[in-house]
Parts: sequence; C-alpha cells; structure tokens
Amino acid sequence: MKDELSRREVISGVGVVATAGILSQFLATEAHAQPKEPGVFAHQLPPLSYAEDALEPVIDKETVKIHHGKHFDGYIKGLNAALEKLEKARIEGNFDNIKALSRDLAFNGSGVVLHWIYFSTIGPKAGGAPSGKLADAIKRDFGSFETFWKQFATASKDVEASGWGVLAWEPFSKRLVIMQAEKHQNLTSWGAMPLMVCDVWEHAYYLKYQNRRAEYVDAFANIIDWKKVEERFERYSK
Ligand SMILES: [Fe+2]
Repeated sequence: MKDELSRREVISGVGVVATAGILSQFLATEAHAQPKEPGVFAHQLPPLSYAEDALEPVIDKETVKIHHGKHFDGYIKGLNAALEKLEKARIEGNFDNIKALSRDLAFNGSGVVLHWIYFSTIGPKAGGAPSGKLADAIKRDFGSFETFWKQFATASKDVEASGWGVLAWEPFSKRLVIMQAEKHQNLTSWGAMPLMVCDVWEHAYYLKYQNRRAEYVDAFANIIDWKKVEERFERYSK
C-alpha cells in the first residue's frame, strides 16, 4: 500500500474534518491535506504496496486477500456511508439518528485509520527493531525495546474480544503510549496518534492460527517495517 494518498483521497479526507478530530488529523498528516473540492466525497481503498503472498509465512495469502479486499474495504464503505448520511442530515436539518450516525462514524472511521496503518506498516523483509529518534523515544518511555515489546505483545494478546494493540504518540505529554483498543474505537485516548498497530480481530489471523492469537502476535514481530514506523513518528512528533 502506498503511504501517500491520491489527490482524490486527499480531498475526500477534508470532508471528515468537521466531525472527527483524530481522523481528520490523521488524514491531514498522512495526506498533506489540500483545499476541499466540492462534490468529491468518497474514500477509496488504498492498494497494497506488496503482493498478497509477500507476508508468508507469518500471514497467509488468503488472509491478506480477504482482510484487505473485504474487511478494510468494508470499513471504507462504512465510513463513506456514515459521511453521506451526516451530510444528508445537515442538508435536511434532521438529526434524529445522530446517535447511530455518530457511532457509525467512530467505528468505521477508526477502522479505516487502524487498517490504513496496519497494512502500510507491515511488509516483507521486515522485523528487527527501530533505530534513530524512535529507538531513543522507546528507550526513554519504556526503559528498553525488550520491555516495550513485552508490553505491546501482551497488550495485543490480551485484548478482550476484537481489537488492536496500538503504539501511539501522545502529543499532550509528548510521550509514546501503548493502548488496547476494543473494537476499533473503544479504550483509546484522545489526541494519541497511532504509529504501529497489531490487528487482533480474528479475521486477521484465524485461517492460519485459529484460536492461537498469541502465536500470531509473536510472529507479527517479523513483519513490522520499522522504517515506516520511524517515518510516521518523525512526522507526528515534530
Ligand atoms: Fe482487521
């Protein structure tokens, strides 16, 4: 998947600004946002930047194909639908369904951001440990890379039901934090910008690992592209 967005995706990101702060900041940062163009609204599924079988043996081809092409795409469609319904509500001045629409926006918008980061932060010939400023920040905020990974992996393995392990930059205290997100939007922290995420919804691993989530998380360490994580960290932590 490309890390830069197409112009259409850049423009469509601006439509979110009024309704979802973290999503708009993410899209603006990732996309280097440009002025809005009327009538352009829909997000599009970003293509993978690697082949569907490139993550084997950690993640099998079929899982990547379904996860990216069906699940990720489903969240993009869900976000587009929520945005369209909110636009319609504003035009009609009818906010009777605002609770359901707000939930749809949070669920699908968070699903888009997290899948975006997931697929663009993993890759073949990856793994190892970060270097540079991110390595320094991890040592400062977690004590060592080994301690960071133990906390991140345990948090990911122990998510209740479906969710994510998330390494994020928390700009208010200017520190790295690890979060356990349930579903996509619960147990998150306002303002924190995700840098690297581990998807522990069953759709991310069940074909190969069945109920062995811990085995999947341990193997996940081998496909984290730390150069991509370092680039994102340096953009967000300026
Ligand atoms: Fe997923």
